[in-house]
Amino acid sequence: MTEAILLAGGKGSRLRPVTLHTPKPMVPAAGVPFLAHQLARAKAAGVTHVVLATSYLAEVFEPYFGDGSALGMRLTYVTEDQPLGTGGAIRSAADALTSGPADPVLVFNGDILTGLDIAGLVDAHQRAGAAVTLHLTRADDPREYGLVPTDDTGRVLDFTEKPQHPDEIVTDQINAGCYVFRREVIDTIPAGRPVSVERETFPQLLAAGALLHGVVDRTYWLDLGRPACFVKASADLVRGIVASPALPGPTGEYLLLPGAQVADGAKLGGGTVVGAGARIEAGAVVEGSIVLDGARVAEGAQVYDSLLGARSSVGRNTTVTGAVVGDDAEVGSANELTDGARVWCDARIPDAAIRFSPDC
Ligand code: GTP
Repeated sequence: MTEAILLAGGKGSRLRPVTLHTPKPMVPAAGVPFLAHQLARAKAAGVTHVVLATSYLAEVFEPYFGDGSALGMRLTYVTEDQPLGTGGAIRSAADALTSGPADPVLVFNGDILTGLDIAGLVDAHQRAGAAVTLHLTRADDPREYGLVPTDDTGRVLDFTEKPQHPDEIVTDQINAGCYVFRREVIDTIPAGRPVSVERETFPQLLAAGALLHGVVDRTYWLDLGRPACFVKASADLVRGIVASPALPGPTGEYLLLPGAQVADGAKLGGGTVVGAGARIEAGAVVEGSIVLDGARVAEGAQVYDSLLGARSSVGRNTTVTGAVVGDDAEVGSANELTDGARVWCDARIPDAAIRFSPDC
């Protein structure tokens, strides 16, 4: 039996307004809450019990996933009254584990989509006899991540969280947000106060001489913290670029959920998903996007690489590119929303109010 802790309590502030009413792991990607893909992948790797460490909007998880029996696994929920950070959340969730002191316990960040061989990571951890084993990947621009240089046996040499100076960039190996802890190591994390596993626990373990082992694996990996990445992850799941047992339909250029309505002459592609009760009208184009339940894309509108919130609407001949439209927002006709635009939930944008003019 393998147990896992899944960190699902962050505020998801970089994903606002999508995360104002929905915690990041519950935002739908390829038709189901992103968390469903992570749980299905964990199950496929032999994980039988997952402890969900929740905090922000904690009440929405259990009504959806219940005790996990529908997924063929056991789910337990541990909620922090105050967010305890990644390390504090791991420590608090560990109270619900049944693993013995030397057993391996998986820990997943709740916002990473990866094709990692999870069972292989556990095997590598056992072979190395490590206190903690970390999945590492390589980044072209590692500044937003935690840098983790290793020696040629995989032993971790250092941690630099979000390096600020070029001198600090000593490797392109980054912490990929999936760990195997020896259970007794979790019990050494201080209880009841905020702890960052990246900034506090790992550097302290290293300073104390513990063996931290890094496994560099360059399989598919995406951090879904920002809207563009979240939308890309959904499109990659729909197209089967990364596999998920939780995909609610066949892979292809688009996925329609039951009750989605697409008029003749509308064009869908690039891994678009259209939610229940959503409507795409004639002559509209929707590429590489997430259209949540009840949203509407009017005639002649064009939507690329964007997320349209539940019950939102995009007016006639409006173009939306690389943008987020919040739940229940209305974007009038003949607007141009471009990369990085975020329309807040319930906002009303009049007709022809926003134009994109790169030369001004
Ligand atoms: P941003 O606010 O956009 O940075 O997102 P975030 O709040 O999710 O933070 P971050 O991406 O750094 O978090 C990494 C993972 O840890 C995510 O899966 C979060 O849900 C989770 N996490 C972060 N802080 C906490 C916390 O205090 N408690 C719990 N239970 N999980 C957390």
